Amino acid sequence: MLRCWWLAGLLLACAAAEPPLRWEPRCRQQLRHLQDGARIAARLPPRLEGHWVSTGCEVRPGPEFLTRSYLFYANRLFKAYQFYYWDPSCREPLYSLVIKGKLRLRQASWITRGATEADYHLHKVGIVFHSQKAMREVASWINQTSSEGCSGFLPPGRTWAPGALYELLSAKSERDCTAALGFAMHELSLVRVEKHYQPLLEPQQSGSQLVEELYLGDIHTDWLERLHYRPTGYQRPLQNAVHHVHPCPACGIIYRADEHHPPILPARAEPPMQLSGSWVSTHCEVRPAVLFLTRYFIFHGNNHTWEGYYYHYSDPLCKQPTFTIYASGRYTQGVPSSKVRGGTELAFKVTQARVTPMDQLTVMMLNSSEPGSCGLTNSWSAGVEQDITPTNGCLALGIKLPHTEYELFKTEHDTRDRSLLYVGERPTDGSSPDRPDKRPTSYQAPLIQCAGAPEEFSNYVSLKYLGEEDANGSEALKPLPVAFLLFIALQFLRWD
Ligand SMILES: *[C@@H]1O[C@H](CO)[C@@H](O)[C@H](O)[C@H]1NC(C)=O
Ligand SMILES: *[C@@H]1O[C@H](CO)[C@@H](O)[C@H](O)[C@H]1NC(C)=O
Ligand SMILES: *[C@@H]1O[C@H](CO)[C@@H](O)[C@H](O)[C@H]1NC(C)=O
Ligand SMILES: *[C@@H]1O[C@H](CO)[C@@H](O)[C@H](O)[C@H]1NC(C)=O
Repeated sequence: MLRCWWLAGLLLACAAAEPPLRWEPRCRQQLRHLQDGARIAARLPPRLEGHWVSTGCEVRPGPEFLTRSYLFYANRLFKAYQFYYWDPSCREPLYSLVIKGKLRLRQASWITRGATEADYHLHKVGIVFHSQKAMREVASWINQTSSEGCSGFLPPGRTWAPGALYELLSAKSERDCTAALGFAMHELSLVRVEKHYQPLLEPQQSGSQLVEELYLGDIHTDWLERLHYRPTGYQRPLQNAVHHVHPCPACGIIYRADEHHPPILPARAEPPMQLSGSWVSTHCEVRPAVLFLTRYFIFHGNNHTWEGYYYHYSDPLCKQPTFTIYASGRYTQGVPSSKVRGGTELAFKVTQARVTPMDQLTVMMLNSSEPGSCGLTNSWSAGVEQDITPTNGCLALGIKLPHTEYELFKTEHDTRDRSLLYVGERPTDGSSPDRPDKRPTSYQAPLIQCAGAPEEFSNYVSLKYLGEEDANGSEALKPLPVAFLLFIALQFLRWD
């Protein structure tokens, strides 16, 4: 491995000495853009006031297909619509929820950097069924889990009356039937608002468009945990109904909808899944248990091998690198998922991995790991990659080799006709989907295709420093000690 990543100037010299630098400039540009903070601003505390909508059909663990439209008022009251569907295109409404309550922002979260914690109180939750079949379905769930304090809701044999609103929860009458639906509003206990500017598409227009995104807490991937789980990660963000990405046909439709007129999203041709090529994150991503990362994958369709780069950071803008993992292996032919319509099931085998610590704290952690459990003992240093295949992975980072993961993938075109790849959501408990029954039923934030043809590059670590002005690289980056301790604790928790 070349040692010239430390200095941007030197790196360019090395790269030039090793022609050709084969990876597609767009992939590199995108990763650099993300490391430059992608020009994102996040105000603390966030300003929630306004109307926020989904930008498309969302998939929650289960799966559940839904769209959301949330209104926050100046007096801290809120009204939230959740529209549920039978289908993964959000075209066949099942039922709608109207959720009213009050939200109070608390302090900055010390678990999820960049997030604000909030308390909420529900005043009322109402449900409207959009067909007799939907009502029967929900009635049977409620029957199965028949919770206390829920009597009188939907007596057996009740026929469907279009437009009728039933009270699922009422703070006044102390009725609460929400558990049967797996409904909880804990997403409101972790919030973050991000602003960025989107360049305008049309060449004749100059300038850019303000985009505001509302990140709310994630939903636990295990159905049994979701009623109690306090989020530490986020769901796919809502966007401000006034300041959203353009074009967004779904935004207007969802904005105008209410419980009696659920949004029906435009029909879209589903492209067959086309995995070959290179894919890269569109945001600095956060995973529950406080990992910030960006991802870069290459799938070689010709021989069914894959390579993945996971760039980990200590901060919510992905500016302070902590370590990088390179993993590679093989993958199986995909088959359509019967559980999650629209998804494709695959299995991934990880056979090789390499780690590059990027800061002194990670070096210390790896240096002090059990001999033989993670690369060569006491040989780690910042910016220098080590193969961890000979030690069957790295215990301290929770990597075991060889390793198989059961995956759920989906590809989609966005409204700008770019290809997006959705990879299955990781189990919230930090475990790995290493058995078919742990296969995800929902997705992580999408990756965007940055190169169509399979491509390679030898010096992936270099991109960390391509954009750095500071020649001292990671020397300048020192995460808080408390974050480090927590980090270690979580690493052990996550993977035992
Ligand atoms: C609820 O369950 C009972 C017993 O299993 C059954 O007799 C009844 O019809 C069910 N009611 C509904 C609404 O499904
Ligand atoms: C698979 O194909 C890619 C691209 O053609 C190549 O770079 C890689 O070495 C191949 N891997 C194996 C294990 O054959
Ligand atoms: C890690 O171990 C190497 C080799 O013993 C040493 O040079 C380096 O200073 C150590 N780093 C830390 C942060 O302990
Ligand atoms: C790198 O670090 C050294 C010593 O800490 C410092 O004197 C120098 O100014 C730094 N260089 C840059 C480009 O920040």
